[in-house]
Amino acid sequence: MTERALPRHVAIIMDGNGRWAKQHKLQVALGHRKGVEALRSIIRESSDLGIEALSLYAFSTENWKREKTEVEALMALLLEFFSSEIDELHENNVCIRILGDKAGLPPKQREAVERAEIRTQANTGLKLNIAINYGGRAELAMAAREMAEMALRGEISPDDIDEEMLSRHLYTRGLPDVDLLIRTSGEMRLSNFLLYQCAYAEFDFPSVLWPDFDLEAYHQALDAFRRRDRRFGGRNK
Ligand code: FPP
Repeated sequence: MTERALPRHVAIIMDGNGRWAKQHKLQVALGHRKGVEALRSIIRESSDLGIEALSLYAFSTENWKREKTEVEALMALLLEFFSSEIDELHENNVCIRILGDKAGLPPKQREAVERAEIRTQANTGLKLNIAINYGGRAELAMAAREMAEMALRGEISPDDIDEEMLSRHLYTRGLPDVDLLIRTSGEMRLSNFLLYQCAYAEFDFPSVLWPDFDLEAYHQALDAFRRRDRRFGGRNK
């Protein structure tokens, strides 16, 4: 079978931290902490492999509904991640972008993510997108609102609105579409992640829980992707 290229853009729904914690009789916050360790090595590997973009679903607009202690633990981990990892990411030429509504974040977290974006914006290596306070439908509504406002101001006509213009109003502007979407823990849902960008993505649902998703599991997903026959609605010869 022909082996195809690596995906340009990998998106990951890091699911199963809670179940991992339960299995190990630990508090859920420790499952998330272990999840951060897994994500560190996946980021490094993606950068080493020369993958163009990696998008990680860290906190959805729906995650605020979780227990206060869990939300606080996740917010504390985010802060910790951005202070402890930023130097290494910057040295490795990683460019960080936040996907989601930063205005809805607590001030400290907002400040930390904005600082990381500014510091790494000129980097030309891995484009690391971290979705925080992100929802795919909210993102599409935001894009529609922005374009409607432009039309009202007479800057564009409704006829100008096409797929290309819409994609320029998304958080992912300038990035290629998602090629491979991985969701760990065996759940087979998109859960409002990158709805527009995943139109032609290949899906992989390994049963492993996110804290146990190691480099071997990542390579398995990448190898399976390279064997897929992607037709984008057409027909391969
Ligand atoms: C899903 O597991 C995971 C999350 C809601 C959060 C993912 C966040 C991290 C890995 C850490 C924070 C991220 C960064 C960038 C520092 P779950 O709790 O829904 O698992 P369950 O379905 O087994 O309960």
